[in-house]
Amino acid sequence: MPFGIDLGAPINTALLLANIYFAQGIIFPKVSPPSVTPTDYKQSYSWMPKSHPPTVIFETFTPKTLAKYDGRDGGRVLLAIKGMVFDVTAGKSFYGPDGPYGNFAGRDASRGMAKQSFDVDMLTPLDQPLDKLEGLSNSEIDNMNGWIDFFSHKYLVCGKLVENTD
Ligand code: HEM
Repeated sequence: MPFGIDLGAPINTALLLANIYFAQGIIFPKVSPPSVTPTDYKQSYSWMPKSHPPTVIFETFTPKTLAKYDGRDGGRVLLAIKGMVFDVTAGKSFYGPDGPYGNFAGRDASRGMAKQSFDVDMLTPLDQPLDKLEGLSNSEIDNMNGWIDFFSHKYLVCGKLVENTD
């Protein structure tokens, strides 16, 4: 009677065989190919959209053309920081006409973001050359870059801001 176990007893023999059966499954696992292949994944994941909405087109805006996207017509809301135009329509509650930061909608918000201010004199008049961001301190530039980082993670970049053509 090795180890004090009576292998003659049917229950012990059955348990030993069961242990051997399960142990070989652990020691020599069966590797089977994934059940979902690229060709049938759409049928398997019915929650996936059949197609995605058209990609936002990267456009060139001027202060004057950007100004139309202030959300007052119920349409897209865009704003620019350091020449990058962000589509902030998803943040309408912030930048829409009734939002706390609605003054930035359709505008170059760089200086206001840098100085953490929504004073109207942060905005360059639409018919003036682009704000060259002169006179900002290093910490204000850092603050503005922090907002660019924030916007880049939350919103889509949809274009660049260049000088007016007229
Ligand atoms: C009384 C002062 C202020 C209060 C109480 C305030 C409050 C808030 C709150 C509660 C949020 C939302 C945060 C979240 O979603 O987790 C927010 C976001 C934001 N705030 Fe302010 N804020 C103030 C001043 C300012 C100023 C002066 C600026 C000017 C640059 C500013 C720019 C922003 C921006 C850009 C966002 C991000 C909105 C987005 O998610 O798109 N805030 N603020």
